[in-house]
Amino acid sequence: MKINYITTSTFGLEAVVKREVERLGGENINVSDGRIDFSGGIEMIPRFNMWLRSGDRLLINFAEFYAYTFDELFEKTKALPWEDWITIDGKFTVTGKSIKSQLFSVSDCQSIVKKAIVERLKPKYNVEWFEETGPEYKVQVGLLKDKVTLTIDTTGPGLHKRGYRLDAVVAPLKETIAAALIDLSYWKKDRILFDPMCGSGTIAIEAAMIARNIAPGLTRDFASKYWPQIDEKIWKDEKSKAYAEINVDVRPEIYASDMDPKAIETAKHNSRLAGVDDSIFFDTRKFDSQTPAPGDYGVMISNPPYGERIGTLEEMKEIHKNLGLFLKRNPSWSLYVITSNEEFEKQLGKKADKKRKLFNGNVKTDYYQYFGPRPPKNDTI
Ligand SMILES: C[S@@+](CC[C@H](N)C(=O)[O-])C[C@H]1O[C@@H](n2cnc3c(N)ncnc32)[C@H](O)[C@@H]1O
Repeated sequence: MKINYITTSTFGLEAVVKREVERLGGENINVSDGRIDFSGGIEMIPRFNMWLRSGDRLLINFAEFYAYTFDELFEKTKALPWEDWITIDGKFTVTGKSIKSQLFSVSDCQSIVKKAIVERLKPKYNVEWFEETGPEYKVQVGLLKDKVTLTIDTTGPGLHKRGYRLDAVVAPLKETIAAALIDLSYWKKDRILFDPMCGSGTIAIEAAMIARNIAPGLTRDFASKYWPQIDEKIWKDEKSKAYAEINVDVRPEIYASDMDPKAIETAKHNSRLAGVDDSIFFDTRKFDSQTPAPGDYGVMISNPPYGERIGTLEEMKEIHKNLGLFLKRNPSWSLYVITSNEEFEKQLGKKADKKRKLFNGNVKTDYYQYFGPRPPKNDTI
């Protein structure tokens, strides 16, 4: 049985997430703003949840239709085979969103969809009341220009919640975005990676996990793990396969520093939880005009502070200037920086080779990319 799925994505990262969907075996892929549609078998649910690094969550695209009145929404929702997924004890909440549609009251759409599902399931299960004490099926009703999309969330807490970041510093980067920044750089596990403003260590930890092929969702839980439709064996096999595929012998050369000792303590703790503390060299150190490069042909990926305080603005200016000086002193290096600061290129002193817009939460940022030369052939694997 083929199922229609949606992997949701941060705006601006659709191309990265599309590549992931391709790699993981998605078929009939279609990309639009913030979502990648595809189809595949039921085994995609464990596989995608376990392996997506940049995608936000995996949804079942249960149905799509047009609705212009509440009656239409009710009847079309009620006609769908909800019993294929939602169990007699299933807990089903309905969330919603509506953009440019006649049915603009989200709360009304939500309650109508909930009622329609209940009315569908009552005769199917021959009950009048649902206890909702079992597995969770989060339904979303999305309206865009009167087109209704009904989805069921397989993921639970968003996929950025890998489980290793129990502690975070101020303004941490989402794990899914960090993984995408690495994907968009030309970093490979045989090259040096350096984040000189690492905060809670997200970029370094994600890079180490990529290098060692550790599945990002290996140790966490998912809503769909409790769904009877997916044989427990599929979950077990996917997990055993993921453990077997870890490159235990790979020791990437990753450096992560921050001027805040508490950030380094946090980053170390997180890297231990992620099982990659032996792959990252941590250091409490201020990034300044003298910061040395730990080798040649390295890749610097960083997320410097970006705030509006006057003090911070001055500090940011200094950091951007020093990033430019670092590149000048180390012409074999590549530099990748995510920031919302629009003065970035001017303050660094050089135009980026490429710039990509993306959203870090609600903050509009740019990912500035300065491509260094490729390492000589015999230095690469
Ligand atoms: C936006 S946060 C980085 C968040 C990080 N990407 C994460 O996921 O947790 C910026 C970090 O830069 C550090 N920082 C600011 N100025 C610095 C400097 N001159 N040298 C080193 N670290 C600095 C701050 O302590 C903070 O942890």
